Amino acid sequence: MNIAIDTDPGHDDALAILFALAHDDITVEQITTVAGNATLENTTKNAGTILALAERSDIPLAAGCDRPLDRALETAQVHGDDGLDGLDREIDPVPAEKNGIEALASTAATGATIITLGPLTNIATAIDQYPAQMQQAQEIISMGGALTSPGNQNRVAEYNLYVDPDAAATVIESEIKTTLVPLDPCNDIMFRPADIEDLEDATIGRDLRSMLEAYHANINRFLDVDGALLYDAAAMFTLVGDDHIEKEPHDIVVETEGTYTRGMLVPEQRPYVDPEHNTDIVTRIDTKPCEQTLKQTLRRC
Ligand code: RIB
Ligand code: CA
Repeated sequence: MNIAIDTDPGHDDALAILFALAHDDITVEQITTVAGNATLENTTKNAGTILALAERSDIPLAAGCDRPLDRALETAQVHGDDGLDGLDREIDPVPAEKNGIEALASTAATGATIITLGPLTNIATAIDQYPAQMQQAQEIISMGGALTSPGNQNRVAEYNLYVDPDAAATVIESEIKTTLVPLDPCNDIMFRPADIEDLEDATIGRDLRSMLEAYHANINRFLDVDGALLYDAAAMFTLVGDDHIEKEPHDIVVETEGTYTRGMLVPEQRPYVDPEHNTDIVTRIDTKPCEQTLKQTLRRC
């Protein structure tokens, strides 16, 4: 499967990217970065660092939007100030071009699948500026949203959709086949201390361990969860884990104005209304097969 990855590294983004680079059935054609977990400068530097760690300077990297469509950027806490807490070794990042939106559209035009791991700002901008090319994408698969799970950024919204709900609404309303991987099936998917130790055998095992231990500590402190949550890596796993996932068709709108509900996924549930299916939503990912596949593949990095 040929893919473009749009990302805001972020620890779970980092694992998702490394997993994709190491998996035999995935070919990464392009990586684009977006402001989210950290500033665009930092998410781009982090993506370049991850490519350098993986010794994959052959993968095209390009920066996209430095802020949401119509709001100020709100960075995340759990990834640290620069977005990759714990990676304390000096590593020269793979350099990035600045034409992320054009690069995304060009890759979409080849029929690739677009995997998004951060706010949807780049995707919405590409749909606006290059509609015909984006329409040729095989599918957009996005880590984002909360269907019945509590939010992780407010009572009802997941971070990526909260940060840029206007962009999320544009993507959901587009005619491009879209699948969401929300918090619901991902909340229990994580690496615990023993899993982090098991990654020591990887060539980059020490870097993985230092990043994941810092991320685990932050998750524990801010979210009271005893593990390194792997939302983006779980979303990437859905590309190759057909036997271990379940999807449902939905008619979704995204709340863009709510004081308490900004970024909320609002499904059509009225029994007397015929829903207009516009999004597939992954409702189940088998936790253990996902964690084991992620760990086995990352040990090859
Ligand atoms: O809510 C989880 C999502 O927000 C993940 O993509 C994480 O990296 C952050 O971007
Ligand atoms: Ca992310």
